[in-house]
Amino acid sequence: MRRFEGRSVIVTGGASGIGAAIATRFASEGAKVVIADLKVEAAESFAATLPGAIGIACDVGDEGAVESCANTTLDRFGRIDVIVNNAGLMTFKGLGEWTGDDWMKVFRVDLLGAAFFTKQLFLHGGDSGGAIVNIASVHAIETSANAAPYSAAKAALLSLTRTTSIEGKGRKIRANAILPGAIDTPMLWDNPNVKSGAEVIDRKDVGRPEDVAAAATFLASDDAAFITGASLAVDGGRLAKL
Ligand SMILES: NC(=O)c1ccc[n+]([C@@H]2O[C@H](COP(=O)([O-])OP(=O)(O)OC[C@H]3O[C@@H](n4cnc5c(N)ncnc54)[C@H](O)[C@@H]3O)[C@@H](O)[C@H]2O)c1
Repeated sequence: MRRFEGRSVIVTGGASGIGAAIATRFASEGAKVVIADLKVEAAESFAATLPGAIGIACDVGDEGAVESCANTTLDRFGRIDVIVNNAGLMTFKGLGEWTGDDWMKVFRVDLLGAAFFTKQLFLHGGDSGGAIVNIASVHAIETSANAAPYSAAKAALLSLTRTTSIEGKGRKIRANAILPGAIDTPMLWDNPNVKSGAEVIDRKDVGRPEDVAAAATFLASDDAAFITGASLAVDGGRLAKL
């Protein structure tokens, strides 16, 4: 399948884990991929392994850096068709310990970063419209202790997805969210709740980054032309269990 021939795709946090698998899948389907990551060396060296991809330093929580990433994409590829808001981070504290700065640290990356990139597609999307895929989490629906800013930011990301689908309709911009369950990346195994056993993960419930990439490319493709405002769990059925 070469569903993205001639199209340009920005993947935030694309230098590692799920984002790297998403970037790989888009490139394999013909897209010109921009890997926008805080870690510029990792972004550039990973981009060099993909046909036609470029790596760009971008802190998604900095609106100026997001604008500059969109402008570089337009300079290099002439268009922006798809944005995958994948960059994310999770921190761990109890409700009595959090400071305002702690909350903002998570919100600026997991929520505002997606909002800033969404704005860029509304400013620069062409006549044929575009697609946004927001990588949320099962934590948007069910959660565990000590992760309040993360679960709140991911829940808000589902809300942003719905608003984007409504405001995007007239512009042919679709927006959908993916709720990954436990996916085999450094972020999963570095999670203190997982390490301590507070969040118990059955090995049978662990998916691969490629499972999320398959869903992301589907939702961004014309195969999903009538799907917008939706949230798709890619979790091996974890959310369905009592
Ligand atoms: N791994 C899981 O089990 C899991 C489950 C549910 C949701 N998710 C979500 O999937 C997404 C990717 O997670 P992952 O497991 O691949 O994590 P990861 O830590 O392997 O990769 C995250 C990437 O985001 C980049 N990043 C962090 N802050 C950034 C910033 N401010 N600007 C730009 N890039 C930044 C990092 O440099 C890294 O390359 C995240 O949004 C995460 O919340 C992951």
